[in-house]
Amino acid sequence: MSKEKFYITTPIYYTNNYLHIGHSYTTIATDAMARYKKMRGYDVKFLTGSDEHGQKIEDSAKQKGISPKEYVDHITNHIKDLWKLLNIDYDYYIRTTDEKHIKTVQKIFKALYDKGDIYKGHYEGLYCTPCETFFTESQLKDGKCPDCGRDVHNVKEESYFFKLSKYQDRLIKHIEENEDFISPASRKNEMLNNFLRPGLEDLCVSRTSFKWGIPVEFDKEHVVYVWIDALSNYISALGYGSDDDSDFKKYWPADIHVVGKEIVRFHTIIWPAMLMALDLELPKQIFGHGWLLIDGGKMSKSKGNVVDPKVLVDRYGVDAIRYFLLREVAFGQDGNFTNKSLIERINFDLANDLGNLLSRTVGMIDKYFGGTLPTFTDSNDESEKNIKEFSNDTIIKVEQYMDKMQFSSALTEIWNLVRRVNKYIDETTPWVLAKDEANKNKLANVMYTLAEALRIIGILITPAMPNTSKAIFEQLSIKDDNLLSWDSAKTFGLLAKDLSITKGNVIFPRIDIEKELEELDAMIEATKAKANANNKGETKTEEKEQIGFEDFLKMDFKIGEVLECEKIKKSNKLLKSKVKIGDKVLQIVSGIANYYTPEEMVGKKVVVLTNLKPAKLCGEISEGMILAASDNDNNLKLITVEDSDNVIKSGAEVK
Ligand code: ME8
Ligand code: MG
Repeated sequence: MSKEKFYITTPIYYTNNYLHIGHSYTTIATDAMARYKKMRGYDVKFLTGSDEHGQKIEDSAKQKGISPKEYVDHITNHIKDLWKLLNIDYDYYIRTTDEKHIKTVQKIFKALYDKGDIYKGHYEGLYCTPCETFFTESQLKDGKCPDCGRDVHNVKEESYFFKLSKYQDRLIKHIEENEDFISPASRKNEMLNNFLRPGLEDLCVSRTSFKWGIPVEFDKEHVVYVWIDALSNYISALGYGSDDDSDFKKYWPADIHVVGKEIVRFHTIIWPAMLMALDLELPKQIFGHGWLLIDGGKMSKSKGNVVDPKVLVDRYGVDAIRYFLLREVAFGQDGNFTNKSLIERINFDLANDLGNLLSRTVGMIDKYFGGTLPTFTDSNDESEKNIKEFSNDTIIKVEQYMDKMQFSSALTEIWNLVRRVNKYIDETTPWVLAKDEANKNKLANVMYTLAEALRIIGILITPAMPNTSKAIFEQLSIKDDNLLSWDSAKTFGLLAKDLSITKGNVIFPRIDIEKELEELDAMIEATKAKANANNKGETKTEEKEQIGFEDFLKMDFKIGEVLECEKIKKSNKLLKSKVKIGDKVLQIVSGIANYYTPEEMVGKKVVVLTNLKPAKLCGEISEGMILAASDNDNNLKLITVEDSDNVIKSGAEVK
């Protein structure tokens, strides 16, 4: 019997950005789903890629003084590196600059034109270049792009139009009749009420004011609108319209397009209308996930709050990040990303719950049985039966949740099992059993049950955490693939005795939360500074608004003399100084430990902002700020007084 196919896609990523952890979210979730389906025996095709055309990209390349192709090559390499780092096991990577894709898009455009669904006209309206989206006046928010808040500009040019309006009724019908077409359900209502029912206008699908796009074959002044170009990737990647369309025949329609919520409307309106016009089947489902937010706002480089996935992965390992993203937020909803919640998850769920279970189990088998897994003797003991039942129930629930892409709930169930098994250790107290030879059988049963539970847990976490499951199987020395398959988790008791267990490294070391938080902040600052430096010329350095003299007078700058200075133990970057300001002494904490030693600080005359509200840094009160100059290349120098004859005393005013 041939396997059932499963075609799942991520959006193709814009190649005008370095990706942040929010971008990684779509891809990690899709990867987890693809891995799960592969384990369940499906013939999976997992597609991702890059979206490489458009005015925005042309502009960015121009600013950098390189060709658009050089520019997108560079970013595409960066994206591919990131997916490697995040252990994304995609089956095909499509680039919209691929010859194969370009040909398909030109064919599609021509086919729609021949059919009369694309016609020539004049466009006059508003356009947001960063979002590559057309808007009407009424769609704007305070006169700005409703999606990104930036300025829109007027576009007036000859262009081709796609008869989107013609498909409105069919689209509404399809969405209403197919419960799962748009998921979660809330997004479905949003599309119906906000876009479809109020009425669709025909869509402008070509541009003439820039060049970096796919030329319309029969009218070379025009390039194809990026969204028509981009959406076509889902079938061009399968060879649609080419000499070899066997993959298209096999995998289309897509089972799931996973997309972020802001692009659901392109995927549930424009894309299906295009497919209807081409007489092709519609994807079975579009799943619109929520946003990962920082401080309640969207992540973006322009907001300066980027979280660099590389920094995080280097620090905690890829599986900790994958686990966090899948577990922390229900897939579909928005969720806040904080360093604290990340580190707490790592400490509590990974180091304490899972890590401990593994090290305790392996450690005890080592200690009590010389590292060889003992035989299980069917004891009919309630406590072992409980674990077996709990495990079987867990698998059923995990499948139900995974099938609906409810990763967080699936992981919650798995962690309930992890905790249940940890509790089983506390209930059976192996260390007490080990004291009496008469309990040898029971002790053997406990060890076997623990190892078997870990095998099953290892299998269940594989889609989310492929490296961790490997590490578990290595320590348990399970090499037989039959014992690692998804279905094998449904039979409790498959492990052979006599496995020799290999005590390995701690899989998730515990983290000192407070210290870690601070170091992480510092690292993110540093990456941000570097990114800014790299982008010089691309973004203007932000100028602050003008202030009046009265604002300046509010700040009390004084000369201070550093009397004492020491490192703050819990931190790598903070120094604590006692600074004499006239007859007062202030305690000031400064992030300068990487630039000055405490010894160098003592005796220095520095400029201090003395009326800053006191704040606590790493548990130490700071009553002012020592001023320093710093740049994006990680240089920092204190601001001092030019005073070789030493006439200016501490407490002197700076104005
Ligand atoms: O939209 N939280 O590409 P893209 C969650 N090229 N997801 C986020 C996110 C965040 N903070 N930031 C970005 C495009 N994403 C088009 C797609 S498909 C035919 C063309 C997600 O690079 C975003 O929602 O802007 C989307 O799913 C993905 O990153 C790529 O976004
Ligand atoms: Mg986007």
